[in-house]
Formats: sequence, C-alpha cells, structure tokens
Amino acid sequence: METKAKKIDSSKKDDAKAKADPKKKEVAETKTELKTSAKSNAIDKNSGEEFRSFFIDELKDILWAEKALKKALPKMRKAATGKELASSFDDHIADTEAQISSIEQIFELMGEKPTTKKCDAMEGLISESESIIADTDKGSAIRDAGLILAAQKVEHYEIATYGTLAAFADAMKEDKVAKLLRSILKDEKKTDKALTTLALESVNEDASAE
Ligand SMILES: [Fe+2]
Ligand SMILES: [Fe+2]
Repeated sequence: METKAKKIDSSKKDDAKAKADPKKKEVAETKTELKTSAKSNAIDKNSGEEFRSFFIDELKDILWAEKALKKALPKMRKAATGKELASSFDDHIADTEAQISSIEQIFELMGEKPTTKKCDAMEGLISESESIIADTDKGSAIRDAGLILAAQKVEHYEIATYGTLAAFADAMKEDKVAKLLRSILKDEKKTDKALTTLALESVNEDASAE
C-alpha cells in the first residue's frame, strides 16, 4: 500500500515533470480539475434538496427519540431512590417536553410536518435503562448509580445529535433553526453536568461502599 507521504512525494514529482513535459502538464491539470469537482460536489449536496431531506429525516429521528424518552423518564424517576436523582429526572422530564415543542417549531420553520421516524439508538438506550432496573434491587444505591449511567448515555447521544444538527443548520443558512438546536443543546449539556455532579458527589460513593 502506498503511504500518504509517498503519495505527496509522487504528486510533487508529477508537478515537476509537468513543467518539463507539456503532455504531463495536461494530466496534472486534469487531476486538479477532478479534485476541484469532487469538492464542489460536496458543497452542492450541502446546499441542495437531497441534504435538506436528509436533515428533515434526522429531525424526525430525534423527535421520535425525545418522545420515547418522555415516556421512559417517569419509569426511571420512579425507580430512583436518591432525592436529588429523582428531582433531576423531574427536571429532565420538563426539559424533554419543552424540547419536543422546540423540535416541532423547527419543523414549522422548515415548512414540514412534525412526523417521527423510529430512532434505534434511543430505543436501545431506553432498553438498557430497563435492564438496569430489572437487574438491581429496589432502593439500592447500585440501582441509582446504574440510572445515572443510563441517563448520561442518553445525554451524550442527544449532545452529539444536536451539536451536529446545529452545524448542518448553519451550513444550510437556517439561522433560526440553528439557534433553536443550540438552545436544546445547552439544556442537554446542563442535564449532563447535573448528572456528572450526582455521580461524583453521592451515588457512586454509596454504591461502591455496598
Ligand atoms: Fe432531550
Ligand atoms: Fe436530555
């Protein structure tokens, strides 16, 4: 396999040869043209209908995810023992409801209906939280620790999704959409921070002492 360094080296050689031989110069120019057209193709997709429809599909996916989470969070809250953890789930439920409204607003801004598309990743994360509840004792600190872990996995999935969608909205010059996505992203980061504090300050210590 040709290494990157060798490739760079050979392209330098091509350029040098091209200067000496007009035919080689033609080949070198064609190579440059191909590179340029590949680049502009990517830009066309970013601003085109195809990319927009991909973006809408991903919005449908995250709307499904938030709606599924809205149903799952009360079960996680009920399973939690620590008061602070339970109250963090209460905040998360309220945030999720507000986020669903924000996503619906984004659909409106994009001139689309807020339909959903099943998100396999969120389904998996929720099913993992259900396994944690099933595999741990009621009222145990281990269960609380497991719930924090499950909730943080969800947060990190959401943070990745909203961060990238906001960047895509910037690329499509959908400023209002990008602003709403960043405001959801801010909420998700706040929830993640609160969960990290909980993990560090109380539950993990109790769980390891059991
Ligand atoms: Fe969310
Ligand atoms: Fe969240």
